[in-house]
Amino acid sequence: MASFHSSGGLLYLILIVITIFAASSDSVKAAYAAVPTVYRPSAWTLAHATFYGDESASSTMGGACGYGNLMTNGYGTNTAALSSTVFSNGYACGQCYQIKCVESPWCSPSSIATVTATNLCPPNWSEDSNNGGWCNPPRTHFDMAKPAFMQIAQWKAGIVPVMYRRVPCARIGGLRFSFQGNGYWLLVYVMNVGGAGDIQSMWVKGSKTTWISMSHNWGASYQAFATLRGQALSFRLTSYTTKQTITAYNVAPANWNLGLTYQANLNFH
Ligand SMILES: *[C@@H]1O[C@H](CO)[C@@H](O)[C@H](O)[C@H]1NC(C)=O
Repeated sequence: MASFHSSGGLLYLILIVITIFAASSDSVKAAYAAVPTVYRPSAWTLAHATFYGDESASSTMGGACGYGNLMTNGYGTNTAALSSTVFSNGYACGQCYQIKCVESPWCSPSSIATVTATNLCPPNWSEDSNNGGWCNPPRTHFDMAKPAFMQIAQWKAGIVPVMYRRVPCARIGGLRFSFQGNGYWLLVYVMNVGGAGDIQSMWVKGSKTTWISMSHNWGASYQAFATLRGQALSFRLTSYTTKQTITAYNVAPANWNLGLTYQANLNFH
């Protein structure tokens, strides 16, 4: 964590390197041969929503998913912190939710917002679960960035009942992999995930290695304790929700660097 936060400034200067190099035709077949999985919205369920931060949403940056600067990384201000019941120890990072205000005089007429899960709303056991401790388990709660909350209700409401459902994440372009770590430890933040938006497991393959299983570190980050310098890197990922697995070949060129973000030419849908 320390190394991530101390080098966090780099995230603000991220260079997105789009690998123009396309995978070999065999690889492309392997990636696209399976019947494409398309994530469908879930049913509407009752929960509650509050907001945090101000109109600038600056306090929503650097949340528990590790997305860093949400503006430069494409998530914007339509984000939410999830109560731990829904956050699932970070496996919910990147999921997309439609949230609409219901049964409150403070609801906006067009009271619907689509947000990405980028943060955890931690429990506070010194507050009652029904009076301030809104994120205490087993409550399902959305602590929305203020600009997102203001799309569904007047901020003066403080807390409103909502109906929510999971929806597919509409992302432009391919999966993005932001590299941290050191020469023996590759820590990858997975961003811009389409479809169900979430990741269950991940593998990395250097041009001179077999597939190496990566372990979940925190938020949306996965790690491999391996020396991969000087090798082009491919990634294989399994969706947490749909269990679909896709493989992005040669996402990073052999001269990849820590602190940079590399974009694949494919995504979940
Ligand atoms: C938890 O709630 C108490 C009581 O309202 C408050 O004083 C405290 O700041 C809260 N803790 C956090 C971490 O928000």
